[in-house]
Amino acid sequence: MTDTNDLTSAALRAGFAAALGEGGRQSRWLAAFADVPREHFVPSFFQQDEQGRWYEVSESDPGYLEAVYSDTALTTQLDEHGVPTSSSSEPRLMLTMLDALDAEPGHRLFELGLGTGYNAALASALLGSDNVVSVDVDPELVRRARKHLERGRYRPHVFAGDGAEGCPDRAPYDRVIATAALRRIPPALLEQARTGAVVVAPIGFGIAKAVVSEGGEASGRFLPVPAFFMPRRVPGKAPDFAGLETQLGRTTSVPVTDVLDRLRFPLSLALPGYRSCSWRDDEGELTGVGLWTEDGSTATVHVSGRVRQTGPRHLWEVVEELAAVFPDGEPAREDFGFTVNAAEQRAWYGEVGGPSWAM
Ligand SMILES: C[S@@+](CC[C@H](N)C(=O)[O-])C[C@H]1O[C@@H](n2cnc3c(N)ncnc32)[C@H](O)[C@@H]1O
Repeated sequence: MTDTNDLTSAALRAGFAAALGEGGRQSRWLAAFADVPREHFVPSFFQQDEQGRWYEVSESDPGYLEAVYSDTALTTQLDEHGVPTSSSSEPRLMLTMLDALDAEPGHRLFELGLGTGYNAALASALLGSDNVVSVDVDPELVRRARKHLERGRYRPHVFAGDGAEGCPDRAPYDRVIATAALRRIPPALLEQARTGAVVVAPIGFGIAKAVVSEGGEASGRFLPVPAFFMPRRVPGKAPDFAGLETQLGRTTSVPVTDVLDRLRFPLSLALPGYRSCSWRDDEGELTGVGLWTEDGSTATVHVSGRVRQTGPRHLWEVVEELAAVFPDGEPAREDFGFTVNAAEQRAWYGEVGGPSWAM
């Protein structure tokens, strides 16, 4: 980068950190956002054109720095099907998650999901590089993140591996953060956390914040913010839409749109890892929704209310049960909590003992 670009970057970064702190937000992490150049970690990213085709934007392209210093998630890796597999998350959401850690300088942090290394560098700015350990399942991303980190002055410990196993060599941790969507908090991360440690992790379509107690137990609540992180991918069966075409099916009184909006978050707790798609007609009007889980269970629901289901689990029954628990409106994420003990992890609504779902 030229000196002029460095100046532009410094000015944009200062404005970016100030915008993150708008509304009088008090956060010790704002200094880290003002300090760490995000462009070191995102030398290029992918954007979609109007037809949904991906194209790469890099340092020499117009608008690159402005995009880097905007409050947007930047896709940094695509698989062979054009599906995003890594990104630098939305900065405001990163700040919310870092704030939720209640971290102090000197705390030791484990991060699941190194990605570009940006969050690990931010964490190093407050906690000290030697106190930050970050792991990514993709060795190529770890290689790139190491190169990115060399452009700045922070040197957290970064490794390739399954973050669900933690990093026992550097345990115990005072704080744990995950930046890939999890279905539950991995037991190894709880075992490697100190009593009183705070864990912040995307679970379903929300962010869970837990405090660890003795013996690997933990409990907490969800933050009020929505979050749609990339899931940790697991091999699974494809949806069996073809097998449903010949079924007569049955009718439901639950509107198909409920799974797209007001019941979306509770469904992500009740059916961990579920996937969905929707169909529209030529005018763009919704005609139906498909749901499936990795065991091959598949449901389609037409806007007329016709439900067809196949596979080991009847997925629409789960939606109907949720609609009975939440007959009106969208339940607030912060009214959901969860408890982890030796036997299970369970999400609940309202209070322990309220309606609940195994995670
Ligand atoms: C949203 S990105 C992380 C963003 C990153 N913290 C940053 O600052 O750029 C999610 C990352 O989680 C990684 N990931 C997914 N499953 C994982 C696992 N089981 N263990 C460690 N990393 C994982 C993905 O490879 C991806 O790079």
